[in-house]
Formats: sequence, C-alpha cells, structure tokens
Amino acid sequence: MTDTAGTGALPVEGVPAARVLDEIRGLRAADRPTHGGRLFAYVYDPGVAGLDELAQAAHAESAHVNGLDPTAFPSLLAMENALVGAAARLLGGGPGTSAPDVVGSVTSGGTESLILAVKAARDARPDLTEPRIVVPVSGHAAFAKAAHYLRVALDPVPVDPVTLRPAVADVAAAIRPETVLVVASAPSYAHGVVDPVAEIAAVAAAAGVRCHVDACFGGWTLPWLRRLGAPVPPFDFAVPGVTSISVDLHKYAYAPKGVSVLLHRDAGLRAPQFFAYADWPGYTMVNPVIASTRSGGPIAAAYATLRHLGEDGYLRLAAVTRDAVAGLADAVRAVDGLRLLAEPESTVVCFTADDPELDLFVLVDELTARGWHTQPQLAYAGLPASVHLTVTAAVAPRVAEFGPALAEAAAAARAAGPVVLPPELLALAGSLTPEALTPDLIAGLAAGLGLGAGAAPDRMAAVNTLLQAAPVRLRERLLVEFVGLLQRPTW
Ligand SMILES: Cc1ncc(COP(=O)(O)O)c(C=O)c1O
Repeated sequence: MTDTAGTGALPVEGVPAARVLDEIRGLRAADRPTHGGRLFAYVYDPGVAGLDELAQAAHAESAHVNGLDPTAFPSLLAMENALVGAAARLLGGGPGTSAPDVVGSVTSGGTESLILAVKAARDARPDLTEPRIVVPVSGHAAFAKAAHYLRVALDPVPVDPVTLRPAVADVAAAIRPETVLVVASAPSYAHGVVDPVAEIAAVAAAAGVRCHVDACFGGWTLPWLRRLGAPVPPFDFAVPGVTSISVDLHKYAYAPKGVSVLLHRDAGLRAPQFFAYADWPGYTMVNPVIASTRSGGPIAAAYATLRHLGEDGYLRLAAVTRDAVAGLADAVRAVDGLRLLAEPESTVVCFTADDPELDLFVLVDELTARGWHTQPQLAYAGLPASVHLTVTAAVAPRVAEFGPALAEAAAAARAAGPVVLPPELLALAGSLTPEALTPDLIAGLAAGLGLGAGAAPDRMAAVNTLLQAAPVRLRERLLVEFVGLLQRPTW
C-alpha cells in the first residue's frame, strides 16, 4: 500500500492521532533515558510515582493560555505569583525576613533568567556607554551569552584550581566604575561548589554594584540540605548586598522544562527588566520577560508539581539525593586513578583522572556503552578534564549498581588506552584559527570523526579529544559547525 503520509512533519493527508503518537514514541526510543536514574545531566527526575501524570494534566489545562496579557488570563497570573512567592520564601525573602519586598518573574529557564538579570542591571545604568559584568570563570556560560546578546563586556575572574572558587580580592579588583553586576554561583554547575556569596556581595555593595546569585541549579536543593543539617554557607536574600537570585524550577523543583524564577530584592531593582512599547498601532505591549506570547503549560505544570510535592516532599527528596551523592562519591574514590575534583557539597559529583593511562573521555564512552550517561567537561584554564554527574533523587536506587559499572568501565578504558589522534590533526587543532576554517576542512574533520549529517557517533572520545586540543575560540567555532551539520531540514 502506498504511504501517502510519508515521514515528514506535514504529510499530504493527515495521520490518525494514535499513529502520530506511535511515531513520536518510535523517535523517542533513540533518546537517552529521561527516567530511571542512569542519565546524569539534562534531566531532573524525582522518581515519584504519578508526578509526571499530574504535571502533564496541569500542562494540558493551561497549554493554550497566553502569558502575553496577565489581565486576560488571571489564572496564569495567580500561578506565577504563587511560584514567585514560594521561591522568594525559600530563598530568604518575603514577610518577616530581611528582604520583605522581594518581587520576581517566571521565565522559560535559567538562561533567560540570567539574561534578564544582566539586562536589568545594564538598563539601570543608562549613563554608562560601556557597561561591564564581573563573572567568575566557573559562572554559567549563560552570563557570557547575556553579555554577548546585550553588548555588555565580560570581566572573568579566575577560580582557584583547588577550591574551584574565585578569590574575593580578585572579584573586588575586577570591579570598575562601569561594572553593573557582580555574579556568584550557588553552586556552580560544573563542579557543584558554592562561591563565597557573602564576601562577594559585600564587595559589590561597597562599590554600589548589584550582585546576582545564580542559584538556578542549587536554589531548590541548598535550603533543604541546610534544613537537613548540611553546612550550607549563606547565599540567599539573608545576605546583605544580594540584589537578585535565579532558581530554576525545571531543575530541582522537578517541574517539566520551561520554568525558572528570577527574583529581585525590590520592585525598583526589577523595573529595568521590563520592556514596554506603545509606539506602534497594535496592542500596547508590556513584557516582564523576553518572550511575548508564552504558554501557560509549563507554569501550570510547575505549580502542580510544587503543590503536590510540598515542603515535606522536597525535604525527603533532598535527603535521598544527599545519600545518593555520598554513595556515588564513594564509588569514585574506590577506583584507582580517579579523583574527586571537589568534595561534594551540593548535588554534583565531579571527578577527574590522575592516571594518563585512564582517558576520561574513553571512560565516559565505556559508561555510555553500559547504559550510564555522564557528562564530560574539557580541560580549561588550568583545570583538568573532568566528568560531571548531576545527581537527582531517582539515582538513589541505582547507586549500588554504579560502583561496579564505574570500575568495569575504568578497566575497559585502561585496556583500550587513551585516544590517539593523528599528530598532524592535533597540530592542526592546536594551531588553526577560526577564520582559517574552510567548509572543506570542516567537512573533512567531521567525516573523520564520524559526525555525519543528522547523527552523532556513539563514541565521542575522539571528538572531545580534538576539541580539547583546540584553543577556546576554535572549540566554539567547531561546535557551531558540527551542530550546524546536525541541524538540517528533513524533506
Ligand atoms: C548554575 C546554572 N545557571 C544557569 C543554567 C542555565 O539554565 P538553562 O539550561 O535552564 O537555561 C544552568 C543550567 O544547568 C545552571 O546550572
């Protein structure tokens, strides 16, 4: 029988609903597993029965509601305000605290929250022609993106190779008269360490500069870990000088993707975040966030998730996650040649290899082959290559299996030996400038590494080794080119 439906997104004749869903499920089969505690990046899984179904139902209720106009859809405004209130309360703000006037906005994710924090800081200083932000190199790459999008200069501050934190004196020294924002992470994504927020906020305040705490990753875990007795340093609105905080609900609040909260200590600090426009013949527009039309789906799903789990639920999940982190760290310590890059103090386990015969990128591939998906991080600015594990509650039941799998993968990586790229290729990667990259050269490199159109290779060690050999600007350009090869329309 002729298949008039084809496989494209727009068939000549519409396809029955059940079949469309089957097709999507078929495509999803190639994805990394979002549930089950074997994927240590990208996903945040509490492993709570029924939570997905609740979030999906809530998402569906509000999917067609438009956040463009809060007066037309008061349901969304009510849920947004409730999410902001919950986040503020968890992070040291609200009635009865030293930050009673905290306000905020719900954004689509951590990156949007950070871009808006930078925008608010920049636009609060219209007198400056060349505004700048001070960001430790361990700060999330989204700050660089914000600086790039908003034409704000970035002043990076190095981190200590042992503590993985910036020195407060270096932060203070980086602040200039044009600085509009100083950043601290709680914790950093890469290593999971909390910056000295109180000291950084103090030097920012002394200079009259805003201080943003990026708690996108840890804002919904550190408070519970502290309640459980962990020695979490002050990082929230209780710290004088902290002017804004971001926390992603689609991370450790376990909401489906598309929700973060950006909080400001008061409405005056938030005001320059907004954009309003009445100088056109259409509707008068006011957008607190970057998107104009935005779906109510993620907001309703997050609201349902918070209400269902509640404080007791998050506390329980944090305890489970804390124990899983300890178990995974022990598993790393038990393997010769592997070393924790930082003692875990939040929900990240990050390790490196001290033995040149144990190639971390090969180890990552060996783990992948065994169904464990970890995240390689390239050597950078004196910091060694490392492997990052984002640990969520769903990992807990898997911890006992991870140790043997890690040991086995390490043995296999040793047996395979380190990646050896042709010396001329390595020399080329080390010496090429991004400008010298021609389409032919890129196509040759991609083919040599197995990066065909529309697919990435199963084993990424060679790609990572090549990227690591390249200077940072060339790394970026190669990544753009390689992903550009993947993003091609299907007809
Ligand atoms: C500390 C931190 N900030 C910002 C972000 C960016 O968040 P998103 O990927 O939601 O844009 C992340 C993401 O992992 C993060 O860990």
